[in-house]
Parts: sequence; C-alpha cells; structure tokens
Amino acid sequence: MPLVIRSVLPSDQAAWQRLWRGYCDFYQAALRDEVTQRTWARILDPDSAIMCLVAESDGQPVGFAHCVVHENTWETQPVCYLEDLYVDPAARGQGVGRALLDWLRNSMRAEGWARLYWMTHKDNAGARALYDQFAQADDFVRYVVRLPAA
Ligand SMILES: CC(C)(COP(=O)(O)OP(=O)(O)OC[C@H]1O[C@@H](n2cnc3c(N)ncnc32)[C@H](O)[C@@H]1OP(=O)(O)O)[C@@H](O)C(=O)NCCC(=O)NCCS
Repeated sequence: MPLVIRSVLPSDQAAWQRLWRGYCDFYQAALRDEVTQRTWARILDPDSAIMCLVAESDGQPVGFAHCVVHENTWETQPVCYLEDLYVDPAARGQGVGRALLDWLRNSMRAEGWARLYWMTHKDNAGARALYDQFAQADDFVRYVVRLPAA
C-alpha cells in the first residue's frame, strides 16, 4: 500500500480523534474531552513544542506519532521525545509504525535534534519488537509524582 508520512493538517481532525481514541483505549485511559481538545489545539499551534506526524495510506490517516521537542542540559541542541505512537489495528504489521520511526530518525539532522528518545511499558512486547530494531533499551527507570486527589 502506498504510505505517506507527513505533518498533521487541520483537516485530519476527525481521523486523528478516532485514532487518538483507539490509543487511549489501548492504555485504558479515560481522558476528559477538554484534554483531547487541548492536545489537538497544541498539535496545530506552531508555537507549541508538540508536533504530530500522520501516516497516510490510500489517502486515509492510519497512524500517528506525537513528539515533544525540548531543551535539555546535556546537549546544546534540543532533543525529541516521542510521547505517543499508534497504528490503527487494521493497518498493523504492514510497516506503518516502522515508517513513522524511520521518518523521525531520518529527520534528526535536518531538525537539529541531538537525540530522539521514548519509553514504553516493559511488557509491551509488540512495540518493543519494533523498538529493538532502532535502539537498545537502557536501564533507566521512571519515577512519577502525582498531585494528591483534591
Ligand atoms: C506498536 C505499533 C505502533 C507497531 O505498529 P505496526 O505498524 O504494526 O508496526 P510495523 O508493521 O512497522 O512493525 C515493524 C516490526 O515490529 C515488529 N512488531 C510490530 N508489532 C508487533 C507485534 N504485535 N508482535 C510482534 N512483533 C511486532 C515486527 O518485528 C515488525 O518487523 P517485521 O516487519 O520484520 O516483522 C502498533 O502495534 C500499535 O499501535 N500498538 C498499540 C499502541 C502501542 O503499543 N504503541 C506504542 C506505545 S509506546
């Protein structure tokens, strides 16, 4: 299938929302509509550090990658954090996820990113089978402090 990786467009809103819902369901996350709306608004905002790539097959968005580009203390250049990667279940196993990661890796020099990095659940075997083809996982573990319920 002809596959195109491109930046998201305002006209992708309905398709993005459908994919985003699938991604939230995958994580069994019940996000408030306000969060989804804010995420979409920041994706389209050129002044926001959030960016969204879309994988389009036969004219239809079938996957996305959300990244946050940010400063860091270890390099002079910004780094790119891949926060979300999702492919429609019907389009999986056809190289869509790999194409999104390839696009990001191939863009590093042109975008001026010193690093591209991401994390995933240790038991996400499908994603890890893909990720292991790009980099070796390191030994860092994640700590998260949350606000106590109000
Ligand atoms: C993980 C995900 C993005 C992979 O997308 P995809 O388009 O199916 O991946 P690809 O077709 O590009 O797979 C490329 C390689 O990854 C491996 N792979 C991907 N999914 C796999 C799975 N479920 N089981 C085993 N291997 C898998 C394969 O080795 C494949 O290589 P091959 O072509 O040599 O067989 C997709 O399954 C998905 O959206 N999952 C749910 C959300 C998720 O887990 N996101 C990542 C959160 S960090």
